[in-house]
Amino acid sequence: MKLHGKTIVIAGSSSGIGGEVARLARFEGARVIGIDRNDTVLTLDGFVKMDLGDPAAIAALPDRLVDAAGVSGTVNRKVVARVNYLGLRHLTEALVSSMLKGASIVNIASILGADWPHRLDAHKELAAAASFVLGKAWLHTNPVQQENCYQYFKEALIVWTKKRSLDLFMQDNIRMNSVAPGPVFTPILGDFVSMLGQERIDRDSALMKRPALPDEIAGPIVFLLSDDARWIVGANLPIDGGIEAG
Ligand SMILES: NC(=O)c1ccc[n+]([C@@H]2O[C@H](COP(=O)([O-])OP(=O)(O)OC[C@H]3O[C@@H](n4cnc5c(N)ncnc54)[C@H](O)[C@@H]3O)[C@@H](O)[C@H]2O)c1
Repeated sequence: MKLHGKTIVIAGSSSGIGGEVARLARFEGARVIGIDRNDTVLTLDGFVKMDLGDPAAIAALPDRLVDAAGVSGTVNRKVVARVNYLGLRHLTEALVSSMLKGASIVNIASILGADWPHRLDAHKELAAAASFVLGKAWLHTNPVQQENCYQYFKEALIVWTKKRSLDLFMQDNIRMNSVAPGPVFTPILGDFVSMLGQERIDRDSALMKRPALPDEIAGPIVFLLSDDARWIVGANLPIDGGIEAG
């Protein structure tokens, strides 16, 4: 039991990847507290119904965190900013102070965030605008286009994870990493087809065998949460059946 005695908070636990991580984490002995805007159909040890895009802090005492809540780029860019980046960051910062030494945080980025080095300076500036309010103000001055907002905030998440993970590890012995899945069979997979267009989907399809199943993403996340990964810090792990290599 890799997670025996651990408490894990999973944002986005009611569907897809987060739901599968919840199932596997409980199987591995963890106490799981879910957070989602939708009700849960899983047996969990606790559940908080909330909108991650609303900067309300939650009171909990976790020592592991998975940020798996997310929306696709088919919704308004301001919602994508709030849910996929600002809210996720805010939730993490709200929980960090109550996390134990040795805790682990895993953020779900995407293979669509792979171009982060091309906009590194902007992502570092946004990371430095550390609160929800400051981040929102930075985005007001530096607006992100609807067409690439999903990619932009996944890139920004990878950069923030790397940057913030250093302080968290040095000062508090908390590890933070991200994973970058390729396409996964979950309810939002169809949105990515609308978002990217058929031509891009056909190109990507030639580079892969098939989309992943959610449990193929959950396993590596549980590994990163576990003490087996205790020397992995600030990494962004591709879980994509080889697309990035292609
Ligand atoms: N499915 C894919 O192909 C794929 C690929 C790469 C990365 N991802 C990322 O993985 C993460 C999980 O996505 P998924 O595929 O499991 O999707 P999903 O839609 O199955 O699950 C997302 C969950 O997040 C919750 N959520 C969304 N907005 C919320 C909000 N404002 N407040 C609280 N909860 C909210 C939803 O209710 C849902 O339960 C997302 O960050 C997504 O961008 C998905």
